[in-house]
Amino acid sequence: MSLTAEGATLTYGRHHRLRRTSALRRLVAETRLAPAALVLPVFVDARIDAPSPISSLPGHARWPVARVAEVGERAARAGVGGLLLFGLPQEKDDRGENAADPLGPVPAALRALRARFPELALIADVCLCEYTTHGHCGVLRGDEIDNDATLPLLADASLAYARAGADIVAPSDMMDGRVAAIRAALDGADFAETAILAYAAKFASAFYGPFREAADCAPSFGDRSAYQMDPPNAREALAEITSDIDEGADAVMVKPAGPYLDVLARARERFDLPLAAYQVSGEYAALHAAADRGWLDLRRAALESLTGIARAGADVIVTYFALDAAAWLAER
Ligand code: PBG
Repeated sequence: MSLTAEGATLTYGRHHRLRRTSALRRLVAETRLAPAALVLPVFVDARIDAPSPISSLPGHARWPVARVAEVGERAARAGVGGLLLFGLPQEKDDRGENAADPLGPVPAALRALRARFPELALIADVCLCEYTTHGHCGVLRGDEIDNDATLPLLADASLAYARAGADIVAPSDMMDGRVAAIRAALDGADFAETAILAYAAKFASAFYGPFREAADCAPSFGDRSAYQMDPPNAREALAEITSDIDEGADAVMVKPAGPYLDVLARARERFDLPLAAYQVSGEYAALHAAADRGWLDLRRAALESLTGIARAGADVIVTYFALDAAAWLAER
């Protein structure tokens, strides 16, 4: 394109041409969000018999096992790809033994959902923090996490979830070697077909705040920086992902999503396995809080944040917006 203005010839492209109408914009969109790629986190609480709203996660509740099928129903109807289950046990102990209780909230919910919703991928989060009295993600020796002593407990929990019908177990504890330990336990018990989605690059993040209220798993002392990743490190994240793939992960996750889009993009370039991203509780709560004040439009901001995560390279997005986003996408 050229034109003459005051004697000068300007040459430039007309990038606007394909932005002119919503039909054109939709036609040339490089990234498309689909409900099938979204995973809804669900909290199952063994101590309650009615849903208990989570104030810091508007629209979300802890669910009793007896009513978790209602969430499954909503997710299936919305066309969401799967559920990620977290459990709040009846009792905690210092070793988190109840994570592996076959009658615990997650196995019970899996059995209830497995029978009714074949269209949903059922993913069980594997971690001890909801099950330990101290709220850390593994067993302690003194005040420090005992990595190797934690591995068999994570393997036992994974096996309990596989037996109850989980398609995928998703370790979020960040112990070294847990993918290998879980894979060996599953294979040894004839669950070679149960997949592992490793929270491979999970950062020690301030954005987990609301989750810790929801799952009652805030550490009673210290923080998780000695085992979760340090926010400045992206190359190290690739090393973590490489380890988990070498140990047998079928898919890998970056978490949180929004502040770590560079890690996602680099992981997408380097690895060919399915890549998941977790838009965590604080990312969701922050958008809601701002929208409540009239500072941004929730729907547009939520869809834009999810689009950014998909554009960076996530195949699967775990998000508290899963049901809302599926509904918004169906309207577009
Ligand atoms: C640990 C776990 C956490 C989240 C998922 N799994 C909390 C943590 O590491 O402290 C956070 C998810 C969120 O913030 O939405 N079991």
